Amino acid sequence: MTRARQIDLTVALRSEHGTTPASFTERRRPHNWRSGLPRLENGLAALRELRLGDGIDLFQAMSRADVTRFISPPPSTVEGFDRFIAWAHRERAAGTNVCLEILGPGTDTAVGLIQFRALEGGFRVAEWGVALAQELWGTGLFTSSARLALQFAFDELGVHRLEARAVVRNGRGNAALRKRGAVQEGVLRQAFFRSGEYMDQVLWSLLADDWRQAQLRAFPPYH
Ligand SMILES: CC(C)(COP(=O)(O)OP(=O)(O)OC[C@H]1O[C@@H](n2cnc3c(N)ncnc32)[C@H](O)[C@@H]1OP(=O)(O)O)[C@@H](O)C(=O)NCCC(=O)NCCS
Repeated sequence: MTRARQIDLTVALRSEHGTTPASFTERRRPHNWRSGLPRLENGLAALRELRLGDGIDLFQAMSRADVTRFISPPPSTVEGFDRFIAWAHRERAAGTNVCLEILGPGTDTAVGLIQFRALEGGFRVAEWGVALAQELWGTGLFTSSARLALQFAFDELGVHRLEARAVVRNGRGNAALRKRGAVQEGVLRQAFFRSGEYMDQVLWSLLADDWRQAQLRAFPPYH
């Protein structure tokens, strides 16, 4: 995906009290993600690699104007999403992009996307973007999905610093980032062109160590 088509990023790290996912307490072998992405699950959400044939579901999830208002326009046809999926597989094999689809609760249907893009040093510095079907906003699905995706990014991709850019007027995205501890580093003036106008973006960052500390506070290990 070119810079112009990348999806902007929002992190929502709302704590899911009451459960300590095994994945946070077990040491797992590093995954050879360049040959294929694992399915990520925590009982509240499930993510997997984009599947050929899921273009129609992703098209439906991304079709509402509310979803795309502040992000680079996604493909406008099912065929466009099919091409995007094939592109994502090539990029993952090349080690430059990792795209996961969010599955609807209790279903096998893709309802959203989370994308990580390498910026520096492989994935040591990376950027991420996300979009979720509008009817699932505020349900907690993104919170659970983001935790899975972030754990994968920090533990498996080896991300040290994860950046996010959100249009200043995207109140929902920026509120979620701030509330979950991402650090606002500045405003990128007129950095994003959409619907005939330049928009300012907030630059956010999340460091691996900060995220791990926050997870330990939210989910202390059992003794
Ligand atoms: C970004 C996205 C995945 C987040 O998922 P979500 O389910 O909406 O996120 P959440 O509900 O967990 O968190 C959003 C928070 O913003 C708050 N919020 C909503 N609108 C707001 C506004 N206008 N101003 C301030 N805060 C707002 C919500 O109350 C919520 O906080 P809470 O958990 O304390 O209630 C989803 O909104 C989306 O797909 N948006 C369209 C694509 C997009 O904008 N991508 C990111 C670009 S930065």
